[in-house]
Amino acid sequence: MQQKSKFVLAAIILLSVFLVVYIGYSVFMQPVEVNNQSINQSREILSVVDLPQAEISTNMSVDQAIQNRRSVRRFSATPISLQDVSQLLWAAQGITDPERNFRSTPSAGHVFPMEIYLVAGNNGVLELEAGIYHYNPFNHTLEMIVKGDQRYNLSQAAHQQKWVNDAPINLVVTGNYHKMQDKYPDKNLSTRFVNMEAGHIGENIYLEAVSRGLGTVAIGSFYDDQMINILKLPTNETPLYIYPVGYQAQ
Ligand SMILES: Cc1cc2nc3c(=O)[nH]c(=O)nc-3n(C[C@H](O)[C@H](O)[C@H](O)COP(=O)(O)O)c2cc1C
Repeated sequence: MQQKSKFVLAAIILLSVFLVVYIGYSVFMQPVEVNNQSINQSREILSVVDLPQAEISTNMSVDQAIQNRRSVRRFSATPISLQDVSQLLWAAQGITDPERNFRSTPSAGHVFPMEIYLVAGNNGVLELEAGIYHYNPFNHTLEMIVKGDQRYNLSQAAHQQKWVNDAPINLVVTGNYHKMQDKYPDKNLSTRFVNMEAGHIGENIYLEAVSRGLGTVAIGSFYDDQMINILKLPTNETPLYIYPVGYQAQ
């Protein structure tokens, strides 16, 4: 090989290595900035409820929970405990690394664009007033944003799916595409990342519910505009999933 072509080949290899390292670094390895901003800080909060600390128990193996997981659509009216709510929310978005505010589910580029809402029915949760609450993972609290039982409205928004009204609680997962796009301007990429994160959260909710003797079902069928109204969502949040949770009816 001529001296000149060897030089060109070496330059191409060097450039390719540089590009791979640069892209890999910019996507996955950027230094971690501690993200402790709740995007809902501007919204009116009616009251704040402290959740009991989440327990790391060994009730059931992950294998067993995966084996037992099945979508449940028939719920009894038996209320669930505040500890159950705490565990479900922790599994969905709880902070598991307080130094970096990293959470129970993975997040592309540690952007954390997801929010969780609790829609608690009348006597849905022991010692908790019916209403809609935003989960604040930073201090593991519930922020009440709407008073009263909203399950009927929610089930209407979910194309009249009856189990949304029957379950003592529903968890709603929302995503902020704008927050992800701030870091990843490619719209396809950032949209995909947010949708994937909803899936991670959903599976954690399923498995946590199963391990506590509860049941749930992923609901992706609903009218966005009605959901936005009921939950009083900020303009940058899109509803992605509803998870009714409760004890399975016999
Ligand atoms: C993205 C997605 C959307 C879904 N939407 C609904 C829904 O709107 N209503 C419903 O009853 N089930 C819904 N499901 C649950 C599926 O019907 C259920 O997972 C499927 O029947 C398989 O049953 P299994 O979960 O018990 O394995 C959804 C599941 C996924 C993954």
